[in-house]
Amino acid sequence: MERTVTLNGPAACGTKAAPPCTLVIFGAAGDLTKRLLMPALYNLSGAGLLAEGFKILGVDHNDNSDEGLRQDLTATMESFTKDATSEFHADHIDPKAWGFVRDRIQFLKGDFEDAAAYAALKDRIEGSVVFYLAVAARFFGPIVEHLGQAGLLKQQDGAFRRVVIEKPFGSDLASAQALNARILKQADESQFYRIDHFLGKETVQSIMALRFANGMLEPIWRREYVDHVQITAAETIGVEDRGGFYEPTGALRDMVPNHLFQLLCMVAMEPPNSFEAEAVRSEKAKVAEAVRPIEPGDAVRGQYTAGTEKGTAVIGYRDEPHVAKDSNTETYVAVKLQIENWRWAGVPFYLRTGKRMTDRLTEIAIHFKPPPFRLFSQSAVTELAPNVMRLMIDPEQGSSTVLNVKRPGPQMRLGRVTTTFRYGDFFTEPPNVGYETLLYDCMVGDATLFQRADNIEAGWAAVDPLLKAWKSAGVEDYAAGTDGPKGAEDLLARDGRQWLPLDGTS
Ligand code: BG6
Repeated sequence: MERTVTLNGPAACGTKAAPPCTLVIFGAAGDLTKRLLMPALYNLSGAGLLAEGFKILGVDHNDNSDEGLRQDLTATMESFTKDATSEFHADHIDPKAWGFVRDRIQFLKGDFEDAAAYAALKDRIEGSVVFYLAVAARFFGPIVEHLGQAGLLKQQDGAFRRVVIEKPFGSDLASAQALNARILKQADESQFYRIDHFLGKETVQSIMALRFANGMLEPIWRREYVDHVQITAAETIGVEDRGGFYEPTGALRDMVPNHLFQLLCMVAMEPPNSFEAEAVRSEKAKVAEAVRPIEPGDAVRGQYTAGTEKGTAVIGYRDEPHVAKDSNTETYVAVKLQIENWRWAGVPFYLRTGKRMTDRLTEIAIHFKPPPFRLFSQSAVTELAPNVMRLMIDPEQGSSTVLNVKRPGPQMRLGRVTTTFRYGDFFTEPPNVGYETLLYDCMVGDATLFQRADNIEAGWAAVDPLLKAWKSAGVEDYAAGTDGPKGAEDLLARDGRQWLPLDGTS
């Protein structure tokens, strides 16, 4: 019998239209609004998931008008049809789906730090509102304070007031705690939706289904059977034009306590009692809190120098725009961490992320312990290679498992084979830039895929010793287009292990 289960959050898209509300976007002229929010709204509109009464109010400090903003955003949507490399690419823009969004766009000029802007905003909105902070992190605190002081976060007469906050949420444990304390003076935790766009990725959401909808996996998903876990987010791009942001940030802050920890939580959390937001978020918070703060001796930082990326010569990090010639910022980080709970004690989790690496690859690889060898000791088999299950997130989406099988022939000789499934072979994906589910979930009030204050702080607490130690630490070189610094290999070699290749082979 086939049964369909409707989950909150992850699978909610595709049901009914979200309740009517106004989406107020701070940073309406910014990159995020153009690249991701508008395509996501366009896709939601095409899927019939926006209510008739849906409105958009773009706030920005530049001069513009309702019609001006509509034209600007229409032009960028059109430009995506000519750019196959953009996150959103379509052959053409459907006039009906885009028209629905376009016609609902309005503009308000305002300085994010000026109380007058919020007085003007108050006159323009009523009913349910999602305030989307698509702005630089330094504005998060001030905007929430102004919203609160202007009375714009009060929920009354059944209307909701929610605030979506982008990353980076803080730059270390102390600043994340301070920001949480600051915003929670203005509204309740349940009104804040802290985004981590990795949770918008379909394959990240599907980790929960893979683990908990398949009875054969959960019994072996633990320290008795798992040798170690590798989590990788490797990129081929460099820092591009984001040097100004990246210099004080670096790969650790940019990727580890947020994106990689979300992957870690998904793969390591206990089964929640339900798919209700608080049940899932509590299990994630528990596992993040069980991570032992990472010792500097268990971490490696690297910075790319000039090299060759896919056959093209590329410059080193220090020659990128807005980067200091003597920059000590890491563009690569690898860490070994331990989760001190009943399920995972003693199982190392190795995390790595870097820019300008050999290949683009985001995945989680579970390395299982090998079976006892004795049975094979009289045969031609000399070793039993461990089984590895890879959860492939980017650019391939699916999973693969490496198994040992008998090679055909009279002797007992083994061969390694890979069984792979790719989502694309089974399902037709609706168009998705990763923000559709997140926007929809916020409008329907499902916080499953958003980060709670304790989850964010647990991520920062785990990396805090590194942030402190790295203020004065050096950085190891690696050539652009390689697998990262030598120290990262040594980190695993000292435990008798090695990283999986970045090209997806075993
Ligand atoms: C962002 C980081 O949050 O995530 C970027 O700031 C990084 O530096 C990006 O490139 C990676 O996301 P994705 O979805 O391209 O894997």
